[in-house]
Amino acid sequence: EKGGFDWFMRKEIHEQPQAVADTLLGRFDADRRLTLDEVRISEAELRTIDKIVIVACGTAFYAGLVAKYAIEHWTRVPCEVEIASEFRYRDPIITGRTLVVTISQSGETADTLMAVRHAREQGAKVIAICNTNGSTIPRESDAVLYTHAGPEIGVASTKGFMTQVAACYLLGLYLAQVRGTKYGDEIATIMRELESMPAKIQKVLDAQQQVLDLAAELVDSKTVLFLGRHVGYPVALEGALKLKEIAYLHAEGFPAGELKHGPIALVEQDLPVFVIVPPQGRDQLHDKVVSNIQEVRARGARTIVLVEEGDHEVEPYADVLIRLPQASTLLQPLLATVPLQVFACELATLLGHDADQPRNLAKSVTVE
Ligand code: F6R
Repeated sequence: EKGGFDWFMRKEIHEQPQAVADTLLGRFDADRRLTLDEVRISEAELRTIDKIVIVACGTAFYAGLVAKYAIEHWTRVPCEVEIASEFRYRDPIITGRTLVVTISQSGETADTLMAVRHAREQGAKVIAICNTNGSTIPRESDAVLYTHAGPEIGVASTKGFMTQVAACYLLGLYLAQVRGTKYGDEIATIMRELESMPAKIQKVLDAQQQVLDLAAELVDSKTVLFLGRHVGYPVALEGALKLKEIAYLHAEGFPAGELKHGPIALVEQDLPVFVIVPPQGRDQLHDKVVSNIQEVRARGARTIVLVEEGDHEVEPYADVLIRLPQASTLLQPLLATVPLQVFACELATLLGHDADQPRNLAKSVTVE
């Protein structure tokens, strides 16, 4: 049942190329227009939307943070992302022109469900991005966009996250098309790049031995930091959450630019710091992140740098280089997340923990 893997989690990490491909599949009509059949909200209505609010918990919340960057860039509609358990208790500003997007693998998370009910009571339209057919959240929403990850058994979400991110890109592109933004004309190009991602995810998996060895080297760590900027920031948060959940290791993710405002005080000799570097050249943040790597390294950190192939600038400051296939900035999370998942799974294994059934956690949290 685990297909030769020791954990469902490891099996699910390896299913990610297929899961992402399945989520992207069949979204074009004969005229190469993006169609999201399940999104039963009229195009006229989607054109009146003046705000998007993404609501989710945990890993799904981080997928929402990635989505914000893509959706705002492509649609120019303001997009907020909120933790579901915080959402309805603060009297959020929701109107008939707000589009609420929930993200939930299980479709049963109580915090997210309560947010759906609250949003609809305020007159908002709700689209559920969900992996579980017929579950409660899509049933109570106006529309659903299914991820096609297949069943996710490991408590820690992996292919769930990756397909949520992919589905959010689809939704963002669809909204750009419907609303006729300038990116509406680039959809075919962006979709082609998206469709190339499963093969690149596979390349990252094929190179995982290095990450397994790294886990063995870092098995005695007490704290691990993750730094990123732009979409690399939610990837950093996700990398940290995976370590907390299954390796029971203290870990934090920070936006790299915030380092100097406090967290850099944590850096001491040999502290492992993972850094996600944005693509070189095409991205102004690249050089700033390279300086962040220098800063933590100068203070003794052991730097583990996730960086695209062909970027040699970081080499002098990296103790370990994890190479990623090239991708545009917005799509890089689909690659950069993978080594972090592999690292957490391996570390949990080496520490003798059950990677599929971490203590104190349940696969779907049906209480508020
Ligand atoms: C993390 C994890 C949780 C879930 C969260 C939301 O690995 O599994 O943080 O992502 O509980 O669950 P769903 O997506 O089912 O609403």
